[in-house]
Amino acid sequence: MKDSFGRNIDYLRISVTDRCNLRCVYCMPEEGVAPMSHCDILSYEEIMRLVGIAASRGIKHIRLTGGEPLVRRGIESLIADIKKTPGIETVSITTNGILIPEKFEMLKAAGLDAVNISLDTMDAERFVRITRREGFEKVIEAIKLCEASGIRTKVNCVAMRGVNDDEFVAIAELARDLSICVRFIEFMPVGKNDFEKCVPWQEIKETLEQSFGPMADDTSRHGNGPAVYFKPDGFKGSIGFISAMTCAFCETCNRVRLTAEGYLKLCLQYDKGVSLRDIMRAGATDEEIGLAFEAAVMEKPKQHIFNDYFGADDIEERPMNKIGG
Ligand code: GTP
Ligand code: 5AD
Ligand code: SF4
Repeated sequence: MKDSFGRNIDYLRISVTDRCNLRCVYCMPEEGVAPMSHCDILSYEEIMRLVGIAASRGIKHIRLTGGEPLVRRGIESLIADIKKTPGIETVSITTNGILIPEKFEMLKAAGLDAVNISLDTMDAERFVRITRREGFEKVIEAIKLCEASGIRTKVNCVAMRGVNDDEFVAIAELARDLSICVRFIEFMPVGKNDFEKCVPWQEIKETLEQSFGPMADDTSRHGNGPAVYFKPDGFKGSIGFISAMTCAFCETCNRVRLTAEGYLKLCLQYDKGVSLRDIMRAGATDEEIGLAFEAAVMEKPKQHIFNDYFGADDIEERPMNKIGG
């Protein structure tokens, strides 16, 4: 599927819930979110219908996100069904990792290809301050379990000035000892004016190089996202950076998003999109839904403009837990 700038869109991120078992300070309020009504959320049957249509139009990679995707009941059967869809090559999840140890065997049996696990600190007490919940040990266990079993594993660390900027080396060391990618993500001010927390990726790279020496480019392919990778000497894994704020990787953007309510969202930062749920529930055929999907993709914005946040119209106001990153 091509958009109007000639970009090939083959990656669909599906948020399966806005609920989460953590309350990360940058994502969710302490009291949680008012649960979306059950009937507003796409059922698994509806998700599977949209996945089939998307695959027939060129989507090859599916990533399940949340909130926390593993809190939705029966997620492993959804993964297994998506995996069996003709045209779908990889199914991955972005998760906080807490439920991985208990669901691990089922996830592996479902054929999950890759897991991105969020972890912003190596300090158990700080973990509680950032996520407002216990669970640090479970997340570490999850990372080790996934790595040992051969599921492609990445750790996502949101770099935040004054929060975890003294820990980048300690977090990066996970990729020295394990065959995983550790990625530092520039904090994005989604839905609020919070620019000063962002640490530019070059600064993080310099900090790491002071400890690990110069990092060579790692040009091997790790997934389908916008990260760039490096490999310090002696590391089993790699270090990645997602320069959401300082760099425009939008030129090669390959993705669209589906919210838990079935809204096809064309860019992380804009509200622009179409409710495939409403079209589907109004009785549209697969062909009609497919055409609506393609027409929406043609409207995909050229780029995000976090650095010019207040100059733009149509800015996304959904919090991160409703977008899924
Ligand atoms: P891989 O295929 O494993 O590389 O996945 P990914 O990096 O696309 O997925 P993940 O869910 O781990 O996302 C990591 C971070 O990248 C999150 O903070 C996302 O919000 C951010 N991100 C993903 N896609 C985009 C995008 O299109 N624009 C921006 N600005 N950030 C993005
Ligand atoms: N900026 C950057 N990354 C974020 N994430 C959540 N909120 C933000 C933000 N404001 C990350 C999560 C997870 C991924 C889906 O997005 O930590 O790894
Ligand atoms: Fe949950 Fe992820 Fe949001 Fe943290 S960032 S509250 S783990 S959805």
